[in-house]
Amino acid sequence: MLTKKNIVEQLNSFGIEQSLLFEEAQKQRYLHFNNNVIVRGVIEITNLCRVNCDYCPMRKDNTKRNSTFIMSSEEIIKASQYIKALGLNVVFLQGGEIPQTTKTVAEAIPRIKELFEGDVEILLCLGDKSKAEYKLLRNVGADSYILKHETSDARLHLKFRHKSLKSRLRCIENLLDLGYKVGTGTIVGLPGQSLASIADDILLAQELGVHMVSVSPFIPALETPLEKNAHGSLDVTLNCIAAMRLATPHCLIPAVSALEVLKQDGQLKGLEAGANVLTINFSSTARQRDYLIYGKSRYIVKDDHVKTLLKRAGLIQSKSTFLQRKPFGEPN
Ligand code: 5AD
Ligand code: SF4
Repeated sequence: MLTKKNIVEQLNSFGIEQSLLFEEAQKQRYLHFNNNVIVRGVIEITNLCRVNCDYCPMRKDNTKRNSTFIMSSEEIIKASQYIKALGLNVVFLQGGEIPQTTKTVAEAIPRIKELFEGDVEILLCLGDKSKAEYKLLRNVGADSYILKHETSDARLHLKFRHKSLKSRLRCIENLLDLGYKVGTGTIVGLPGQSLASIADDILLAQELGVHMVSVSPFIPALETPLEKNAHGSLDVTLNCIAAMRLATPHCLIPAVSALEVLKQDGQLKGLEAGANVLTINFSSTARQRDYLIYGKSRYIVKDDHVKTLLKRAGLIQSKSTFLQRKPFGEPN
């Protein structure tokens, strides 16, 4: 059993210690996933959001500044065809937190399932919703849901998200209850966040019993209250990925595009630290421009980038690991 003290040490490691940590993380990834990296296709379905996170350019207060969009179910289905054409089977629908997405996504899901003849994982990241809405989406075929706790420090959570950590954790519990494969995750390097607090993030992910965890460095985005703050450290983020792999070895852990924003080959380093998911962007160029997550310096992941990365890391592109389950539409 890892103690908080052990995890803080892992987060602090550099040089030879860091290499050993990554080696251990890779060993665990190999034990649970062999050399497979799950490749997802993401469609960003809306840049509108009712939440006002201080780190995010899509925050509510920026609505008037941004050129906003909500994709219709038809548009979502059309974009999913490109994901299928590339041979992927994880359709990841991501967007700001607005109530309207429940309806459009619920309409789109059965048709995406049809398009893939059932061989598709529908992964959602659409923010907090009521349990009834999560249930509706699950019943029409949603398989998995990412809802990051962002920071497990209740004070920082309230400060930067203006919402309680408790309410987010309740949503995560509701998703688990409904049989979703659930992802949580953390932002590394938020102003005022200590290594001990990041260790708590890792322990929380372990305690929640989730199936996926994401670790992203904090990127100070323009036109946000945190634009003048320093970005999160790449090394601490990588150490956090490795520590997550050791604390929750069975979890899917992405090498997020924000790693590439911090440094060329950042995502390759993420894979070296024990990550096992990559996500290709399938939003149209115009929509990518308006989807301001991380601000204008965002790195857009394409198919050829993923192919090169996998080759360099000596890993293999693989499909969803969540599909050997229940008949369509029934809970696990
Ligand atoms: N830096 C790092 N991560 C961010 N996110 C949003 N803005 C930022 C930022 N500036 C992350 C949040 C959210 C996910 C969709 O994007 O963790 O859950
Ligand atoms: Fe909305 Fe998510 Fe951005 Fe927060 S991080 S403002 S919930 S889109």
